[in-house]
Amino acid sequence: MSFKIEKLQVIVLAAGQGTRMRSAVPKVLHRVCGYTLVGRALRAAAGLKPARIVVVVGYGEELVRKELAQLQTLPFLEGIPLHVAVQSEQRGTGHAVQSAMGELSANLDHVLIMPGDCPLIETEQLAALANGAPASGLSFLTCDLPDPRGFGRVVRSSSGAVQGIVEQKDCSPEQLAIKEINSSIYLSDYKFLVESLKSIQCNNAQGEYYLTDIVQYGVSQKLPVTAHKLSDCTPLLGANDRAELSQLERMRRDEINRRLMESGVTLEDPAQVYVDDDVLVGRDSYLGAGVRLRGRTVIGGGVTIDGNSIITNSKVGDQTRIKLSCSIDDTDIGPRCEIGPFAHLRPGSKLHDGVKIGNFVETKKAELESGAKVNHLTYIGDAYVGEHVNVGAGTITCNYDGVNKHRTVIEAGAFIGSNSCLVAPVKVGEGAYIGAGSTITKDVPPGSLGIGRARQENVSGWASKKQRSKTGE
Ligand code: UD1
Ligand code: CA
Repeated sequence: MSFKIEKLQVIVLAAGQGTRMRSAVPKVLHRVCGYTLVGRALRAAAGLKPARIVVVVGYGEELVRKELAQLQTLPFLEGIPLHVAVQSEQRGTGHAVQSAMGELSANLDHVLIMPGDCPLIETEQLAALANGAPASGLSFLTCDLPDPRGFGRVVRSSSGAVQGIVEQKDCSPEQLAIKEINSSIYLSDYKFLVESLKSIQCNNAQGEYYLTDIVQYGVSQKLPVTAHKLSDCTPLLGANDRAELSQLERMRRDEINRRLMESGVTLEDPAQVYVDDDVLVGRDSYLGAGVRLRGRTVIGGGVTIDGNSIITNSKVGDQTRIKLSCSIDDTDIGPRCEIGPFAHLRPGSKLHDGVKIGNFVETKKAELESGAKVNHLTYIGDAYVGEHVNVGAGTITCNYDGVNKHRTVIEAGAFIGSNSCLVAPVKVGEGAYIGAGSTITKDVPPGSLGIGRARQENVSGWASKKQRSKTGE
């Protein structure tokens, strides 16, 4: 994205509690389509490639710091220094910015300020603000909202020049009728910010230090102050309670699903498909109702996901079919596989080309080579399964001895009879067979039959003897 301001630093305000969420966690840690609210603010800001980002934390500081550490590992924040400023008492948005000043650099000309609870904002609108802003002074995003309740109102003179922002609680009846709202997203030159913050006082309805007062300051000093009005309000909407949060999530989801369909993906019912922002889905794939694709999941082309599956941070290769109700986490699935129904693929599973995993099968840290089949009621954990191995129903790799985990190796072409326990560490050699119902504790050489079960005995005449003893004949 072309962006004319190079020396940019960003402040994200994330110290508030968000009382109306009625939550044990700070509001900025609630999520919309996968990302926390603070994560969304950082993602949008990071798109401008700022020289640094300062996040103001306060309420639930430790939890927010933990989330920031997590976010810092994501690609969009690579190379962007993240600083944390602490506002130990939340005395208003102006006070929050004052708390951040110590982390700013006086050598960076411009400061973008944004709230942490405005999750639909994207780089595009921030860039529009930055590109339209005068070289010095203050500029901020606004829009005309049919129902402006709860927002600060933008007061203009009869000639249309910005005069100030008045919070809802401080509005006169005439001001309450104003539809133009303050987004709380500002771009200021560094010097303006330093000077204007000195002017802020707390003589208002809430007894807080309002950041909005920097607008009045600029106007009174005859410095350039401009409002950049967006025609679409959606990106500026905030979430103050859970009902609003769910509305914002639905808006975001609609947008993600619209983009998926535009790119050639079929959605059985767009109202019931839940895809996080950074998920990729290839052409001619089909997503059934109740499908959830989370995190960094990448779905190939021509993939069918029937419904009700949840797939997190995983890869699914072209033409693979995932039948009803599978749970798949941190797993790499190759092309042309068949998974489910009711399969549970846990972290560290890797399935090569054409692998079949059937109902009630669980895998964990398991590599399955091309053409391997594990069709029913089986646990494969800490294991390697070679090409074209067939694992019978009810097989268990006994990987845990109560203290340590051990590995099972099943070499290519082996056949594991049903209801077998493979007690790890153990190796079944290439082309070997395991008799059904075996408990295998020793390696089985290639081409051999491993059988470990009690021998069957048939007692002749037993049934009629029992019958006689019952009737007392
Ligand atoms: C603010 C604006 C309002 C605007 C609205 C847009 C002020 C006084 N009002 O109101 O004009 O229409 O946003 O969404 O600025 N925060 C802190 N420390 C504090 C207080 C708040 O970090 O002491 C953070 C919050 O975590 C939040 C953001 O600042 O992310 C906004 O605070 P909030 O209390 O939600 O402000 P609004 O009442 O929505
Ligand atoms: Ca708010």
